[in-house]
Amino acid sequence: MGAALIRRPEGVKVTYRRMKFAFEDEGFERYWHGGSPFRSLFWTQLSTAFEPGEKFFIDSARALKGEIDDPALQEEIMEFCRQEGHHTAQHLKFDRMNAEMGIDIDGCRARYTRLLDRAREKLEPMEMLAATMALEHFTAGFADQYFSRPHISAGADRNVHALWAWHAAEEAEHKGTCFDIYRELGGGYFTRIITMPASWFLILALSVFNTFSLLRKDKKLWDLRDIFAGLWYLFGFRGLITGMLPSFLSYFSPRFHPWKTDNSQDIRDWQNEYGDLILNPVNPKPDPSPATAVS
Ligand SMILES: [Fe+2]
Ligand SMILES: [Fe+2]
Repeated sequence: MGAALIRRPEGVKVTYRRMKFAFEDEGFERYWHGGSPFRSLFWTQLSTAFEPGEKFFIDSARALKGEIDDPALQEEIMEFCRQEGHHTAQHLKFDRMNAEMGIDIDGCRARYTRLLDRAREKLEPMEMLAATMALEHFTAGFADQYFSRPHISAGADRNVHALWAWHAAEEAEHKGTCFDIYRELGGGYFTRIITMPASWFLILALSVFNTFSLLRKDKKLWDLRDIFAGLWYLFGFRGLITGMLPSFLSYFSPRFHPWKTDNSQDIRDWQNEYGDLILNPVNPKPDPSPATAVS
């Protein structure tokens, strides 16, 4: 690796946490996000992306792990994979409960799976890693919005919100892992940036399609007030997706690194608020070997 690299800040360590969420035992409403069909079903369908999506991420990282010489990065990749695997396991519980309420979870997940399977067929390992990096930047952008704009989760069921809060914290925590693998292996700027707009566009387009598909099945398409409010929630002024525009643009800088946006305090705040949901002992010690110089 070259000199003068940005890496994770000191005190942030990619760490597997085994979780137990109360939604499993207590259940939740079909429209758990403030009673809004649009907002609830948007997040509900997004949850179905994680099984195929996180498998794609794990496979991309594992495929290249053998070429990494840095033992700290190798260890980080292992923790990254464990985190993503556990995200999938917890989201599958949430998905199953939604499916039991008659929501077409299988249909939504099948669309994400088809999209990602096509990408697997077409992409070389480094291109697949570039697509993963782009999508990890997307999830990190979501996390950043979650931390900086509490109105995005206003009205959400507390127990379901805890699932998304945890996922946001760990996405922020490991947002640099795939980027650092790519950089370590000499991945180029061009592949990185051409993969990005397509990855974001496809995942967003499918999210909106799935949301409308679920709204149609629930006969909520004529609830125009909720639909317009939902679209505004995503694409309006200070909307969830609109708010990610600076993050989208920052990726095109040749000097981009995910940790140029420092969420370490957000991660600490999350751990202080939700630490009692963690089942395994987590070592809060700072990472002993971070390089924190600014490029
Ligand atoms: Fe994840
Ligand atoms: Fe991730």
